[in-house]
Amino acid sequence: MSKKIVIANWKMNPSKVAEAKKIYNGIKKGVTKIRGVDTVVCPPFVFLPELAKLGVTKKLALGVQDTFYEETGAQTGQVSPAMVKGYKAKYTILGHSERRALGESSDLVNKKVRHAIVEGCTAVMCVGETERSDEGDYFRVIREELEVGLAGVKRADLSKLIIAYEPVWAIGKRAEEALDAPALYEMVLFIQKVLTELYGRAPAQKVPILYGGSVKPSNAKEFVEVGKVDGLLVGGASLKANEFLDIIKEIV
Ligand code: PGA
Repeated sequence: MSKKIVIANWKMNPSKVAEAKKIYNGIKKGVTKIRGVDTVVCPPFVFLPELAKLGVTKKLALGVQDTFYEETGAQTGQVSPAMVKGYKAKYTILGHSERRALGESSDLVNKKVRHAIVEGCTAVMCVGETERSDEGDYFRVIREELEVGLAGVKRADLSKLIIAYEPVWAIGKRAEEALDAPALYEMVLFIQKVLTELYGRAPAQKVPILYGGSVKPSNAKEFVEVGKVDGLLVGGASLKANEFLDIIKEIV
């Protein structure tokens, strides 16, 4: 996969729409000069309509940080893929560890993934272990999150799927505390192995695998070159347009 994908996960930030517009405009302007990377910004839902008005481009798409598994209905507080599509959002981050920590199960993630794909939204399904032991138990955790999360997702759906590997213990830290790139490569191979078991080699290889967890301009390149991921999911460092653009420039 030569074209890389970099996704900004703004989480519950920034606090004001004016600031959101400023960051978005900065990113939008900056990515026009960068080749070979698709960029996606996933703001909080409430900012989506305003950012949609600023426009998407061939290089910059919009996404959201969650969506529910029904189109409409008695679901207090939920938002559907059909609703966000009206505001140009084409990606939805699903199963982020911060949502799993609030009780979201892999079964629920699976329903959301399947529904998002049916609605034509690209599902960015997050997987990641909370801790690492010497026994390698984390591989079992990742296998389970993949197998349950992808149950019922067919080969034909894979063009609407991205896997984001985010070891939970490496999120929101300094660059030095992120996963090291050789260990990332080992995990990328493992994820590819599980996907191959589920879908066969050729279809599995087409599914982009991203890394997330304390990605900064100083470590971004290694994740892609040594870790061999197809892109990055960036939290904290995506809230400053310049820092985020520096990450993108590092991997082209
Ligand atoms: P971080 O967050 O880049 O701030 O570690 C990544 C994420 O949680 O998606």
